[in-house]
Amino acid sequence: MSEHKIEMIVFPNPMQHPAWVPPHSPEWYSNLDHELGEYKYPWKSEFYEPTAETIFAQKISSYLTSDSRILDVGCGHGEFTCQFATQAREVVGIDRREGFIAKANQIKPAASVHFMTVDVNNGLPFPDDSFDLVYTKKGPWLFQSDGNREGNRVIKPGGIALLFLHGGTDGGLRELFPGLYTPFTHNLYDMQPLVSTLKLKENHLNLIEIQMIEETEYLSTPEDVLLKKCFGQNAKLKEFVWRECLPGVEAIFRKNATARGLKVTNYYRIVTARVER
Ligand SMILES: C[S@@+](CC[C@H](N)C(=O)[O-])C[C@H]1O[C@@H](n2cnc3c(N)ncnc32)[C@H](O)[C@@H]1O
Repeated sequence: MSEHKIEMIVFPNPMQHPAWVPPHSPEWYSNLDHELGEYKYPWKSEFYEPTAETIFAQKISSYLTSDSRILDVGCGHGEFTCQFATQAREVVGIDRREGFIAKANQIKPAASVHFMTVDVNNGLPFPDDSFDLVYTKKGPWLFQSDGNREGNRVIKPGGIALLFLHGGTDGGLRELFPGLYTPFTHNLYDMQPLVSTLKLKENHLNLIEIQMIEETEYLSTPEDVLLKKCFGQNAKLKEFVWRECLPGVEAIFRKNATARGLKVTNYYRIVTARVER
């Protein structure tokens, strides 16, 4: 294939295929639970340290004392949660997927860590003022002005609420694979829409900071580009994407990858707020 031809490739958009499952829908989490039994990315890659998760963990640790009680909302299979076992008096992880919680209980490192199957839409099984710090890493946020406000109930006055949000991946990926990945239509650095969504005043939250993180990742192989796109999708969708996209993705990958792999940038935001009530 000539270089010129590679630049002309436009891939079919998997999100327009009838088998596409919307990310973060119940069906999408069910696919992940049944296929992997955990919330873990299946593609191979290398990262520049510190990763966004490392920065988030450091942020959480900076607020902990040996007497803290903390809650991880939407903890998945609990791997991230367990690292705080020795930094706090009690660490609780909750998730609505039973399979994830079963896996979390298998890796639980200490008696200070507890995992429970809980759907936060049904309220939380904890007394008022239970936690010094509550965080969610890409899971449900407990401060919805139109419904769930359990955060205001279970976090102690003056306690900390932390939110870790994935804002998408680019760093050239969206230009290299048009159709497969579509361009961002919003300004990633404009925090105003996020601040509005948080409805800080209504939720009695005092904003401490919003931190923007650009994380560098090197995807190891062309298939990893497709695995990233098809995370949580079913076999039918993956079969379509592999058949239609792999040859073109291989050609573009070979042309652009470094010895470490294909460099992409993941965007994350960390919101830190104090509960004032
Ligand atoms: C994007 S995953 C993140 C998992 C984990 N925090 C991580 O970063 O690896 C979001 C998690 O939130 C959980 N979740 C979504 N809605 C929930 C709800 N209503 N109640 C409890 N957990 C929920 C999902 O089952 C899933 O494990």
